[in-house]
Amino acid sequence: MNNITVIPGDGIGPEVVDATIQLLKHMNCPLAFEYIEAGEEAFKAGYVQGISDEALQIIVKNKVALKGPITTPVGYGAQSINVFLRKHFQTYANVRPIKLLPGITTPYSGRAIDFILVRENIEDLYAGIEFDAPGGAAIALKIMTPEGCERVCRKAFELAQQQGRQSVHCATKANILKKTEGLLKRTFERVAPNYPSIKAHHIIVDNCAHQMVRQPEQFEVLVMSNMNGDILSDLGSGLVGGLGVAPGMNLGDDVAIFEPVHGAAPDIAGQGLANPTAMIQTAVLMLKYIAMHDEATALEEALFKTLEAGVLTTDLTPKGAGVSTQQFVDAVAQYL
Ligand code: NAI
Repeated sequence: MNNITVIPGDGIGPEVVDATIQLLKHMNCPLAFEYIEAGEEAFKAGYVQGISDEALQIIVKNKVALKGPITTPVGYGAQSINVFLRKHFQTYANVRPIKLLPGITTPYSGRAIDFILVRENIEDLYAGIEFDAPGGAAIALKIMTPEGCERVCRKAFELAQQQGRQSVHCATKANILKKTEGLLKRTFERVAPNYPSIKAHHIIVDNCAHQMVRQPEQFEVLVMSNMNGDILSDLGSGLVGGLGVAPGMNLGDDVAIFEPVHGAAPDIAGQGLANPTAMIQTAVLMLKYIAMHDEATALEEALFKTLEAGVLTTDLTPKGAGVSTQQFVDAVAQYL
């Protein structure tokens, strides 16, 4: 029996997490779920980090967590609990597969899109060190370390090797930010010869965005700094059907936190409109990570059959034509 820490989050988090747990239970996976709270409720209860010490210990104990999105106030207020968890547990690589799914029509349907984004997950501007300066100016520090750059580059090459991929691209803004982004580029070039079977390419990040739209087939694995990876992973999700379908995982050496790319989606929260596909795919990644490969395959196949049968939530259909979150889950369950 594997113990999994479950963090429902807020906004659509509890809806998509519940949908996914229903399916894992329906499959009788040998998993025990331990629920903890993080975010608004924990802040209200007086925990300044947005999570209690007991909850943090449960994450350490179980090592694997399935997490829904958590709202961060935009432009004011407390620091992101998501960033706190990534830093606290040193989950230094945020890995986000971008792949076309059966049954979902996008402008890219029929094209061979299948790449993974490896985003550095704890450094860069997400150190969150900002201050006011004279004249009303505002300053943020972009911090990148040799260790941080090296481990994320190594992770990208290791994933490429494990998955039989031929190339890794490192996307940076080293033409302008020669110290910080330059450090990532130089580290990538130093690490690359350790993986001689894999072609290593550097690409400037703005051209990378352009190339991802024009010719996404050329990419297999992409590694980049935190902020650039954040932006490019939403772009990547847009190629294959949007944020409702894009899974992700935060990997460290000890703890792994599985969460989709999307956020708390306050515009649709509590209405049964959320697409649980991203979270179900995130659970597939988690099952593979804990070596429950048969269960991962079964869940993925049931999801694909549901999509192929044309059962789609409202984010993927013309207005008013989609099924609810629960109807989608019921359809997936029928294929399990
Ligand atoms: P968002 O990802 O929550 O929403 C962007 C758009 O995508 C919205 O129109 C939303 O309805 C749609 N969308 C997202 N997930 C969907 C799903 N599963 N099914 C159907 N439609 C979906 O991004 P936004 O609006 O920028 O952020 C909202 C809040 O979430 C913010 O407080 C932000 O900080 C937080 N956030 C949290 C993350 C996390 O916990 N890992 C990641 C990204 C954002």
